[in-house]
Amino acid sequence: MNALSSINNNRDIRKLGINLNHWYVVTQISELKNQPLGVTLWNQPIVIYRDNTGKIHALEDRCPHRQVKLSHGTVINNHLECAYHGWRFNAAGECAEVPYLAANQKLPNCKIRKYPVIEKDGFIWIFPGDETLSNIVSPLALPEWEHLNYIVSYTGFECPSHYSFLIENLMDMYHGHLHKDLQAWANPVLQYIDEDENKVHAHYQAQSYYRINREWAVLQLFIPALRQLHPEPLDVSYIYPHWVATLGNDFKICCLFCPVSEIKTRAYLIHFTSLNAFDKLHILPVWFRRFVKNISFNAAKGLLNNLVRQDLVMIEEEQQAYLQHPERKNYELNKALVSVQKLIKTQVEKSI
Ligand code: FES
Ligand SMILES: [Fe+2]
Repeated sequence: MNALSSINNNRDIRKLGINLNHWYVVTQISELKNQPLGVTLWNQPIVIYRDNTGKIHALEDRCPHRQVKLSHGTVINNHLECAYHGWRFNAAGECAEVPYLAANQKLPNCKIRKYPVIEKDGFIWIFPGDETLSNIVSPLALPEWEHLNYIVSYTGFECPSHYSFLIENLMDMYHGHLHKDLQAWANPVLQYIDEDENKVHAHYQAQSYYRINREWAVLQLFIPALRQLHPEPLDVSYIYPHWVATLGNDFKICCLFCPVSEIKTRAYLIHFTSLNAFDKLHILPVWFRRFVKNISFNAAKGLLNNLVRQDLVMIEEEQQAYLQHPERKNYELNKALVSVQKLIKTQVEKSI
């Protein structure tokens, strides 16, 4: 079966679920303040909050008393208190206190689901599947988030589509056409694909506009006249359920997925600019390196937002076109997308 016919037989990918047995990002750490925060991960409303020791917890976002959202509530010591009648729940999801419980009444024996949750590399990750597997599966590692040799920018966005449209956009480097002078790469040629049941890795030979080899080179991010096209490998990977790409040695970019529903996906795009080419960097004082990292934080956020804006117009149209005419065929020439769809199916089947 060739690439074209294979992908045409897979339109229903747009209705597939997710493999729940992975760590998904639900928010950035700094977005969780003192108040509980409600998030949605594949149609499951979840409330995350910190107790008075600062420890993070995640519970089903539903008060079992009257089914309202617990994320309207407040944290009182180690308990999450519902806004409506003040029932309080512990971190295991059990009702621990009812303010008007009569002396002859027992606490209601109601319990809501708790989720494994961790804070790591700038983000809050939730494991929505079989809790016993949460120690075996690791969240995607982003060591560059903290590493002093990397400048970090990120943006969070809501994609009005099934997650498959977003990952196909990210894996198809031929769509640089859309970004015109915003794109970092040019002339990609897909050379090979490595795939297994957990990932698809597509290797493109391409050209890059940027080369971060001198201190002033960072200015290329802002001044187009300083950019010069030169050959670089462009590697993009769907490491289910997230995406990682590198352009030469200077740039790494990741997209962390939070599929919300069949037609909505939250995601975080994170851009790392490497300073590893500056071989004297490591002898500079740590405080200075941290200062440079901090002052440069989000320097490329505007660029990321512009790229995302362009992509979202196309992805939303793809989703709407699918909803209006699910019978219409796409004509796909990029084999990486056939592999992406295969991986999505494999992962969903694993989850069942
Ligand atoms: S609905 Fe939550 S305490 Fe009543
Ligand atoms: Fe794009």
